[in-house]
Amino acid sequence: MAGRHLLRTMNRYPLRRASIYYPKLDAHRKQCTTTSRWYHEVSYQRYGNDPKDVLSYRSDPRIGDLDLPDPIIDNNNNIDEKHPSFPDCRNEDGLLVRVEMMHVPWNPADVNTIQGRYPSPYPYAASSQIPSIASTSSSRPDRKSIRVASNRCIGRYFEKDPIIGSEGWGRITHSISSSSSSFPPGTLVTMGLPGLGTLRSSLWVPASAVLPVADVVWERLGPAGCSLFQLGGTALRLLSDFVVAAPGDVVIQNAGNSGVGFLASQLAASPILFGSSSKNNTNGDGDGNTSTSNEYSTAPIMVSLIRRRGKSKESFDETVDYLTRVGKNAFVVAEEDFFLPEDSSTSKGRENGTAKTIKINEAAIREMRQRLRELSPTGSLPKLALNAVGGNSARVLLKLLEPNAGSTMVTYGGMSGKGVDVATPQLIFNDVRAVGYWHSRWMVRQHEQEQKQQAEQRKRRIVRGETNNSKSSSNRDGCSWNNKSYNRRDEVVEILSRLVQEEDLKCPPAHVVCMEDLEEGLLWQANQSNCQSSDPSHQSPIRKKLVWDCGEQ
Ligand SMILES: NC(=O)c1ccc[n+]([C@@H]2O[C@H](COP(=O)([O-])OP(=O)(O)OC[C@H]3O[C@@H](n4cnc5c(N)ncnc54)[C@H](OP(=O)(O)O)[C@@H]3O)[C@@H](O)[C@H]2O)c1
Repeated sequence: MAGRHLLRTMNRYPLRRASIYYPKLDAHRKQCTTTSRWYHEVSYQRYGNDPKDVLSYRSDPRIGDLDLPDPIIDNNNNIDEKHPSFPDCRNEDGLLVRVEMMHVPWNPADVNTIQGRYPSPYPYAASSQIPSIASTSSSRPDRKSIRVASNRCIGRYFEKDPIIGSEGWGRITHSISSSSSSFPPGTLVTMGLPGLGTLRSSLWVPASAVLPVADVVWERLGPAGCSLFQLGGTALRLLSDFVVAAPGDVVIQNAGNSGVGFLASQLAASPILFGSSSKNNTNGDGDGNTSTSNEYSTAPIMVSLIRRRGKSKESFDETVDYLTRVGKNAFVVAEEDFFLPEDSSTSKGRENGTAKTIKINEAAIREMRQRLRELSPTGSLPKLALNAVGGNSARVLLKLLEPNAGSTMVTYGGMSGKGVDVATPQLIFNDVRAVGYWHSRWMVRQHEQEQKQQAEQRKRRIVRGETNNSKSSSNRDGCSWNNKSYNRRDEVVEILSRLVQEEDLKCPPAHVVCMEDLEEGLLWQANQSNCQSSDPSHQSPIRKKLVWDCGEQ
């Protein structure tokens, strides 16, 4: 049965070529807004290290999605304002929307959530016992903080357990408000708040929790586009909130083949974000050239480290080629090249857990510094490093930063499971800064700020007797490229959508699995890191995103 579903999924979404558009738009919109699907969801009752041990798929084929006992609407689609959950769930406009979920990406954060290692970004959850990042699954932290977010959604059928999923997109089928015109049925939306529990067929949320998306993103990217906004939003903020790269500055990152890394390198090369440029000739010329020219560029230049792991030379070269050509990196290097081979005492120590670090190859670092200086029109080393890995990989990034220039390494992920060690001299004598970024917190804070601003505007309008409902002028500090600001959540969605349309911004390739084939999808994901896998769907120049299809099967 699982195989049949997979086949069906693969047939439905054939491999995309540049000029092929997804044809099902109208049919999909119609289907989403008129037909009733089964309700189904993926939730977890306890924490555990392995998602397949704790996640469960539940559905009831007798219950149509539209027949759900939604507590807030009656049979005539009228809102029941007396329902106890109504005041908690509406935003200041009282607008609620029902989203029929289409696709949900499976992100490392989902795994961390199941493991009980992911805290809640909601400030009002602070009083509950927030699971510590360092806690182990056996310590079973209180799930209250995680439930806080998913409880913001209403109309759930299986009320008991938290539903997994923090990202994804779907279509509005109902909106309830006096001013519901902003969300006509069929509107494509992405999640504007984290942790809503998106791995289900539908959810009711306050309208401010979702952000409308131009249909062109679905047409161009298909299911892969569902990961654009949180991964791309993270990449956008990483490039703008810390050290805003000056024209021609080099930015360095690890995990260059990750979803965030792939989007970050494309964004760094964007003329729309950074002004029109005669970029160095490796960027997006489509021919896979890896040489660079000294032409002046107004966009920063991205250099990525990736893992060679057990890949064959051909397979590694294919990844490098893809990341320079499509990912628009100036060049890509293997991070293993910066480490000295382990001698027998170190590897022995590693086996019995006493070896702390492997040695960095200082000659390789010197060579890389030289290469980076040659790449930069100003001859300087990177002032911004993006770290998704930690451990030894982060040590390499720190050594490649320009000293005494306020250079900053932003840690946004810890894929190696190791901490970030910053040597004391790097902090004191090189003035290197180590900071962190969490996009979930940014979204929550931004949401609150937007709500506050809207409330103030409404108040002012009432005082002045105005009826104008134009958009708030927004918080315009910080991020500004090409004289434009992208600080609001909707602005981030807008600019990413525009880049997809005008610059062919791509998401990591997707491997789509039906939600009900939960085990099959998790197994596929677990085997993705195995370079020897013979599964053809694992063959990809860069890591694929597992994407759940939330539709009816
Ligand atoms: N702070 C935030 O707001 C935020 C937002 C989004 C994502 N993130 C974090 O960013 C990171 C990347 O997320 P993503 O969705 O882009 O990931 P992804 O597409 O799933 O890619 C994972 C990346 O991590 C690398 N990796 C996996 N295991 C590793 C290990 N043991 N040591 C070193 N590298 C390893 C992979 O390299 P291989 O291909 O070689 O395995 C790949 O480059 C995650 O840590 C995620 O939690 C943070």
